[in-house]
This record gives sequence, structure tokens and C-alpha cells, in this order.
Amino acid sequence: MIQPKVSREQVFVIDFGAQYSQLIARRIRECKVYCEIKPHTITADEIRALNPSGIVLSGGPASVYEDGAPHLDKDILHLGIPVLGICYGMQLMAHLLDGRVGPGEAREYGKTDMTVEDAGDLFAGIDKELVGWMSHGDSVIDPPNGFKITARTSNGVAAAMSDTQRKLFGVQFHPEVVHTPKGTEVLKNFLYGSCECQGLWTMKSFIDQATESIRNQVGKGQVVCGLSGGVDSSAVAALIHRAVGDQLTCIFVNNGLLRKGEAEMVQKTFGESFKMRLVYVDAEDRFLDKLSGVSDPERKRKIIGEEFIRVFEDEAAKLGEVQYLAQGTIYPDVVESGTGSAAVIKSHHNVGGLPEDMNMDLVEPLRQLFKDEVREVCEEIGLPEEITWRHPFPGPGLAVRLVGDITKERLDILREADAIVLEEIKKAGFYRTLWQVFAVLLPIRSVGVMGDFRTYANPVVLRAVTSEDAMTADWARLPYDLLERISNRIINEVKGVNRVLYDISSKPPATIEWE
Ligand code: XMP
Repeated sequence: MIQPKVSREQVFVIDFGAQYSQLIARRIRECKVYCEIKPHTITADEIRALNPSGIVLSGGPASVYEDGAPHLDKDILHLGIPVLGICYGMQLMAHLLDGRVGPGEAREYGKTDMTVEDAGDLFAGIDKELVGWMSHGDSVIDPPNGFKITARTSNGVAAAMSDTQRKLFGVQFHPEVVHTPKGTEVLKNFLYGSCECQGLWTMKSFIDQATESIRNQVGKGQVVCGLSGGVDSSAVAALIHRAVGDQLTCIFVNNGLLRKGEAEMVQKTFGESFKMRLVYVDAEDRFLDKLSGVSDPERKRKIIGEEFIRVFEDEAAKLGEVQYLAQGTIYPDVVESGTGSAAVIKSHHNVGGLPEDMNMDLVEPLRQLFKDEVREVCEEIGLPEEITWRHPFPGPGLAVRLVGDITKERLDILREADAIVLEEIKKAGFYRTLWQVFAVLLPIRSVGVMGDFRTYANPVVLRAVTSEDAMTADWARLPYDLLERISNRIINEVKGVNRVLYDISSKPPATIEWE
């Protein structure tokens, strides 16, 4: 068999607790060089064994002289592998190589003018005068022996240094942020010039690589995958199916809390187009029975989570011997679980409500990918746009958008209103610019008039937000005429609704969902 041509070149970002480490890694991957984040405790021996093409030292909140400031195995700087230190990374490099770092005269925050004094290496082909985004108190006062200052800010602060001989470089500004207009060029000069990378890492090469490693891991074993129709589980299913075909069985649970047409779409895409072995479980009655009379949001979540596990276990047991459980863990989950340094944000299970004690090995082909890369995989593998660009949808589904009791009748009202929202938003071309958009049904009633009749019915809330990562969100400034169309259609077409409200709360202090 001809082996796929796969790029093995890779660059490491050593993380000193910067919120920018993931951004640096993403930028490097955008330059088509595979990149991973490593903790600052990594040793020179470990790096030597992994043999990356280059190393980037991230920024970080500390000062190199602070007690407990994150350090680096100094030998890493003597491996002959090109290193680029960014902000704290540059200061640490100077400090470890006997340069002088200090608070200096100027602290610089935000956009800062710089002048290039040596146009080689990092600044090759870049204008002499440029803007760099800074955020620092300390700076390099005297560079180490062998280094020269290659750029200075208008305050005379060292903005960049280099030792061309040893291929060691430092920048005080942040090339990874969009506020440094030539940042990507600087990174490219490091990657393609100093590290001699060729930029071979593409989603196609990733898919080839993932296919090969899934086959190696799974062998002749059977894999089960909980498919929700969301971006991550769809990409996982498509990748594993590509690798091992009918050794994969997907289980799709219709809990009765899905959006209009969702169950049909999943069956059509995966069952019919992709011809996967798909077990469709109609568990609507089971879930609605359990949820009957429950209005507390946390109880709803708990019941739905537990019931899902039960249904999944029942169905998986029917499949006979299954050795592997597929999961849609993605790179930010892996990093947040503790690959990074100081900032361990949360322990992330990402089991998507799946049982942890099923005694199966995990297959997690997306572990290395950022969300936008997962979308690229979906595109490359031929999943429909409807899945590739799908908004996040909470596990408990419409249950947390139906304030109050859950009944089939109320769910149907919400489903119809939500379908109109999505249809109009897509038609107006806003779907991709929004993080999430949906309808919420409230349990209160108000008076209205339709034709000659008085109505006494429920309001629907329209929620539309923009966000980068769901940690914060802003309400979307949708045009009035679009809001008007949505409102008119819902009130006219959905029986039981006589008012539409627009939620203009940001997160924080509100949340994206209503429950
Ligand atoms: P909030 O409402 O906390 O939501 O601003 C942040 C993001 O998380 C999603 N979300 C959930 N996802 N199970 C999930 O799988 C849940 O119980 C849940 N609650 C909220 C929400 O849709 C948004 O993207």
C-alpha cells in the first residue's frame, strides 16, 4: 500500500501561563505548520527526543525575577533548534543567557510604534516602520552575548533581538494578535526562514494521518459513537467511518427535545448519504415521562443526562462486543485539562454525558484540533454545510429553552417558533456571523388581540448573540426589519404565541441560555 504523504514537521509553543498560547498555536497552524502546546516543565531531553523544527516561548503574566516565576530548562536553548521568545519568553531567554532584564523606563501597553534596525531574519521583507501590540512592564535592557537588538520602540525599548548564528530570537511585541498587522509575516519568517518549515500541514494531511492512526488503534475492533448531529460528534463519526467503515456504529438518541427536522437531517446525512451503521433511538416518551412536572433547570439537566446514559448503555449493550468509545474531545479541552502551565482552568471530561465506566478504550481523533479546524475537517470530508457551520446546541436541548414545565404541546410551540427564527436568520445571511440564535418560550401569559378576538397567550423570546468562545457574549444588533419579520411570522404562524421579545442582555451578567 502507498503510504499517504504526511507532514511530520512540527513546532512547539512552550506555555508560561499566557492566555495567548492557544492563539500562537492557531496562528502557526494557519501558516500550515503543525503546532502543539507544551508545559514549561518540559525538559531538553524530552524536546530532543521529539525533535521539533522550532520552539516558541509564550508570553506570561510573571516577571523573570519574581519568586515562583515559571522557568525553562536552559539546555533547551542549546539544542540547536530555533527558538522564538515572545514577551515574557524573550525576557526569559535574555535572563537565562545572562542578558539584563528590568522594569526599564517605559511600560508599554497596546499599539506601539517600532523601528526595525536590522532587516534580516524575523523582519525580512517587512517595512522598517511598523506597529506592534505590547503588554509589558519589564523589558530586555542588555541583550545576552551574541545577540543584537533588531528593533526598538519609539521609547527606545528593545522590541526585538536576535542571535542569527544560534537561531535564537526574541520579540517584545505579540505577533499572534491581530493588532500587530505584520505579526503573521514575522511568524512566517521564523517558521519558513529560521526553522526551514515547508508548511505542509493541511486538513487533508491531518485527515490522512488521523485515518491511519484510527486504523492502527482500532484494528479489527468495534467502535461505538454517540452522534448528536453537532459539529464535533459529526466530524468524529465521519473520520472513524472513513477509517474503519462498518466497524463503527453510531447511536443517535431522539430525546424529544430536538429542534424541528433535526432527527431527520441526521438520519439522512449519516444513514443515507454516508451509509453509516446508525442506530436511531426514539426515546421521546421515555424522556418526557421522566421530565413530567419538572420545571427546575438543574433537575431537568440531571434527569436528561442520566436518562441519556441509560438509553445509550441499553443500545450499546445490544451491539455485542464493543471495544472502543468515540469521543469529540478537541484541543482546547485537552489544554484546559492541564497541558498548559499556571492557568489550569477546569478539569474537562467532555464525555458529552457518556458513561465513564463502560470499560471501553477511547478513540478521540479530534484531540489535536481547534474548533475552526474541526469545521475544516467537516468541509474536507464532505459533510453538509448545515452540519459544518452548526451553532452549538446544549445537551439538554429545548428543555432549557422551555422555561417552566415540559410538555409535548409546549415543545411543539417552541420548535415551530425556533424553526422560523432559524429560517429567517439564514435567509438574511446572519447565521454564520452569530454564535447562537434561538427561541425561548416563557410560561407567562399576556393579553393581545388578533382579528376581532382577544388572545391570552405566551411570549416567545428571541435570543441572538455574538461570541468567541461562549465565556462572554453580546446581544446581536440585528436589523429592525429582520426582527419585525421574525416577530410577525411567529405570531401569525405559531398558535399559542402572541408576543415576541428581543433579549438585549450580554453575558455576563446574563447567560446565553435562559436556564
Ligand atoms: P450559558 O447559558 O452558560 O451557555 O451562557 C454557554 C454555552 O454552553 C451551552 N450550554 C450547554 N451545553 N449542556 C451543554 O452541552 C448544557 O447543559 C448547557 N448549558 C449551556 C450554551 O448553549 C452555550 O453555547
